[in-house]
Amino acid sequence: MNWLDLVVTCAFGLEAVVRQELEALGFAETRVSDGRVEFRGARKDVPLLNLWLRSADRVLIKLAEFPAIDFDQLYDGTAAVSWETWLPADAKMTVDGKSVRSILASVRSCQSIVKKAMVERLKERLGVGLLPETGAEFTVLVSLLNDTAQLTLDTTGPGLNKRGYRMDSGDAPLRETLAAALVQLTFWERERVLLDPMCGSGTILVEAAMIARNMAPGLARTFASERWPLMEAALWAEARAAARTAMLPSGGLKITGSDMDPRMVEAARANAKRAGVQEDIVFECRNVTDLKLSSPYGVLVTNPPYGIKLGRPEDLSSLYAAFDRALKHMKGWSVYVITADKKFPDAFTRAKPDRIRKLFNGTIEASYYQYYGERPPRD
Ligand SMILES: C[S@@+](CC[C@H](N)C(=O)[O-])C[C@H]1O[C@@H](n2cnc3c(N)ncnc32)[C@H](O)[C@@H]1O
Repeated sequence: MNWLDLVVTCAFGLEAVVRQELEALGFAETRVSDGRVEFRGARKDVPLLNLWLRSADRVLIKLAEFPAIDFDQLYDGTAAVSWETWLPADAKMTVDGKSVRSILASVRSCQSIVKKAMVERLKERLGVGLLPETGAEFTVLVSLLNDTAQLTLDTTGPGLNKRGYRMDSGDAPLRETLAAALVQLTFWERERVLLDPMCGSGTILVEAAMIARNMAPGLARTFASERWPLMEAALWAEARAAARTAMLPSGGLKITGSDMDPRMVEAARANAKRAGVQEDIVFECRNVTDLKLSSPYGVLVTNPPYGIKLGRPEDLSSLYAAFDRALKHMKGWSVYVITADKKFPDAFTRAKPDRIRKLFNGTIEASYYQYYGERPPRD
């Protein structure tokens, strides 16, 4: 129990960003695979990771991994886990599942077998005849991959993208976790100018301000494992206190957002306020056709409309042309655009993208076009 096998999950394409975040938090030895990063940690790391990870989806504890080509193996492997160490007698148990390239392909049946094995083991070890399931929530994930079952316990609860600051969002808001990753994939540093000229509900800029002020993104919410007997309240209290101390004061940031829709500008302001970064971002109502860059150097990160509105293709050519005009000669600006519209790179004529990354906003596949600008001269 001293060391835990931890698994952090994330959207496909964000593994390297999450790995870097983990390194910055002191976890140097990590193993990366599609949508997940694995490493060892202590119990006190569970609050730390949940509070601080910006681009990850969940923090899981791996409890077992074993071959499972039939239900007996799945049952026995599950019953061998010391569930009584983790779950109290009143634990509310949910089992989620997935199966990829495995003989045990019926996810529902796997979920029931796992739950049955857990319940039987708990009843026997705790010496009770009935489990009321009225207490703290424990969600177990049974994942079968190539006939190997893995059992993990979800410490997070609602995904880490749910920071708690976003109430007002437009039609197609970016996930907070993806927005944080987009910012971390740029050259932006806290002294530099940052602009999102189609900011919608302001997610990219709010995440950037939180990064610049070293604000833990999970500080305003709670997590499933906060109610677990084994994750003492003191561990959470210490991690929260340290996160509050680490926060930098407002001031000195040059972050600006604009949008043509006044309702979105209001929503972005309200979201920034709830996140506690309202003094760090200037929002204004402006069309990209009126975009004027007042500084020779800067970083622009944006998420234009996707080119599909109410199920029909939308003509974005005049929007792209205005965007292109505003940036064509601004060689000191690094430009980062996430969109699912494949027409974008042809319309942006300043240069070919230096890098294109395939990323996912939920289930929507998008490309992140990265155009590097000249670096500002050092003072
Ligand atoms: C996909 S949404 C951005 C979502 C945003 N990243 C968020 O997380 O909420 C695109 C935004 O571009 C804005 N927009 C569309 N055309 C524009 C234009 N010509 N000038 C400025 N904003 C525009 C829309 O109002 C919308 O809020």
